[in-house]
Amino acid sequence: MTTVVLAAGGAAWEPSVLATLESARDVEVVRRCVDVAELVAVTSARSPQVAVVAAGLPGLDLDVVRRVASSGAAVLAVGDVTKAQSVGITWTVPPEQVLSAVRSSAATDAEPPREVGSVPTGRLLGVWGPAGAPGRSVVAQALAADAASHGARVVLVDADVQGGVQAQLLGLLDEASGLVAACRDANRGALELDRHVLPVDPGLGLLSGIARADMWSQVRLPALERVLEAVRGGSDVGVVDLGPGLDPGGAGRGPHVVTHHVLEAVDDLVVVGRADPTGIARLVRSLHDLREVPVPPPWVVLNRVRRSVGWDVADLARTVQETSGHAVAAALPDDPGTLDAAARTGRTALRVNRSSSFVRAVRGLTAHGGASRV
Ligand SMILES: Nc1ncnc2c1ncn2[C@@H]1O[C@H](COP(=O)(O)OP(=O)(O)O)[C@@H](O)[C@H]1O
Ligand SMILES: [Mg+2]
Repeated sequence: MTTVVLAAGGAAWEPSVLATLESARDVEVVRRCVDVAELVAVTSARSPQVAVVAAGLPGLDLDVVRRVASSGAAVLAVGDVTKAQSVGITWTVPPEQVLSAVRSSAATDAEPPREVGSVPTGRLLGVWGPAGAPGRSVVAQALAADAASHGARVVLVDADVQGGVQAQLLGLLDEASGLVAACRDANRGALELDRHVLPVDPGLGLLSGIARADMWSQVRLPALERVLEAVRGGSDVGVVDLGPGLDPGGAGRGPHVVTHHVLEAVDDLVVVGRADPTGIARLVRSLHDLREVPVPPPWVVLNRVRRSVGWDVADLARTVQETSGHAVAAALPDDPGTLDAAARTGRTALRVNRSSSFVRAVRGLTAHGGASRV
């Protein structure tokens, strides 16, 4: 049973979220708080596992959020991502995702230590986004590295069959593609995933991709399915770096078929968009195309947030919300210093500088709802 306090400050979404939480058998709403004073008092007295708050709750500030979090509660905001971030809440969800976020927050805390020898069942997290290099690969790698640094066994799968870059980014100039080799073995019914996963850091391995788009057809779908199952079975988290966009007019042919297939297989999905006007336009189009695919509710992440664009991240997030219907869950800063150094030295951003703004934002992204998903 997951205990939750709700402080919605009379937001329009409150009745529906309350009803959803109350009708969930595995959730107990300990209190519906009318204001921040009650929120602080109740969290300190009852130590709920999760606090769901309106981002615009009057009186909500860093101090309140810290006090709530110090009682052990994961803090989830609903509403304006910028407002939430400004008071130190790093995970914002739209109202319809509150229940799943509550469940996943609780799942990480409550997860018992895995017994040696038991069969692990990992989750697959897809990282996808439009063309135009919004940072799918960088974000996938950072999420994988973050999860591994928290003790998870992680396999980063480079499934961008239009131009995989993970091996290159990590300084592993591998002649053969781990993914193609694994698919070949799976096709023969003789898959030993470990043979194909390259060690990167403690807890983190890479199934390298294919750098040349014309090789995509070597990734056969039934074999790929087996490989993804093996990743799921052999790790706590499989993070899958995906190719750009979908191809709605493509008549089910070409490399997008692979992307489409993986999107259908993942348990969680992060959609990355670049935080500038063209990036947003592409993001919105992709989210539109995504409607045709059965995927979990996507967590939309804006990447490369920078002042010089001349648009506030809040404006960009609002545009995404209004034009796609998807709330922006998180924003990651532009941090070329860290990411260029990472690529130059073949290390993850976390290895290069764990206190950099990019790495900290990724950690924030995974800290509550995200961590359990990742
Ligand atoms: N937050 C960021 N700050 C600075 N540079 C970034 C950031 N995210 C991505 N980049 C850079 O943008 C380029 C494209 O990123 P990449 O992850 O390869 O994009 P994609 O996989 O979407 O094509 C890379 O050079 C990468 O280092
Ligand atoms: Mg990429």
